[in-house]
Amino acid sequence: MRHLKRGRGAAGVCSPVRQLPLQALVMTALAWSEALALKQPRMDQTHREFVELLQQLDAAAADPARDLLPLVRELQSHTEAHFAQEERWMADIDFAAQNCHSLQHAQVLKVLAEVPRLLAEKDDRELGRVLSDELGKWFVVHAQTMDAALAELMLERGYDPDTGRLLQPLPAAEVPPALITGCGGARCS
Ligand SMILES: [Fe+2]
Ligand SMILES: [Fe+2]
Repeated sequence: MRHLKRGRGAAGVCSPVRQLPLQALVMTALAWSEALALKQPRMDQTHREFVELLQQLDAAAADPARDLLPLVRELQSHTEAHFAQEERWMADIDFAAQNCHSLQHAQVLKVLAEVPRLLAEKDDRELGRVLSDELGKWFVVHAQTMDAALAELMLERGYDPDTGRLLQPLPAAEVPPALITGCGGARCS
């Protein structure tokens, strides 16, 4: 088994791959911007959908007539699929099962799993607004660090997310000797 350590492992922190204009992107609900695009079409499409769901949740939270629970459940299931997709890609390009990117996903899913129960107990408009706002802020940082590192590595390895194949496999001499436990970015610290 190969055990490449790029970054500080499961507890590693990735520095931003590139800086985004955070204030311009996050005021209340995050809006999609090409500044968020990572030039990985499957990933970008999923991220667009995620941002759209955050906007829908923010709008619904401002409307007393709207039921937030169906939207939160939709956001939860979309996010589960979003993260599972990235984790399939990571597994295909030699990430260890335990890596800092997947651990961050798990933390977000844990928070999201709590929200339907809280909403069922009390119809809390503020909870919906705060969830949209905080997830938007989290996503901008996550996208510019961990997702950007994954997209870069997929490109570097010639990985085709539609087929799961490496179109341009690395020569044997260049294959990393170990699985990746950091986020895979050269700037992981
Ligand atoms: Fe993502
Ligand atoms: Fe991610």
